[in-house]
Amino acid sequence: MADSYEREVIFDDGISEIVRIKWPPCSKSEPHDHGVSVGLIKVIGGLVFERIYDRTRRDFTIQNIYVAGDTFSEWKDTIHIMGNFSNTEWAETYHIYTPPLQMRKYKLEELCN
Ligand SMILES: [Fe+2]
Repeated sequence: MADSYEREVIFDDGISEIVRIKWPPCSKSEPHDHGVSVGLIKVIGGLVFERIYDRTRRDFTIQNIYVAGDTFSEWKDTIHIMGNFSNTEWAETYHIYTPPLQMRKYKLEELCN
């Protein structure tokens, strides 16, 4: 499964990074961590979901839904999937990472029972 969103780096000075992501209907990321980066995400439009990996249960058990105006954080040890919850409308998010994101992507079989 490949990522199916449009990612645009708006700013990167080597210390921090600002990224805009446009999410087509039903698109989602691959499971990923955030390396040594911490991030703050703001939803600009649409319905965005986040499925968070539970290390104890070895599965994605926590799901959050965000709407325009919501903000949430990504921590160094967060493994999650993000995507557009709508099957008709686009979604858009802005992400600030410091240091600039160097994520690791996972295959589901690496994470889940
Ligand atoms: Fe992420």
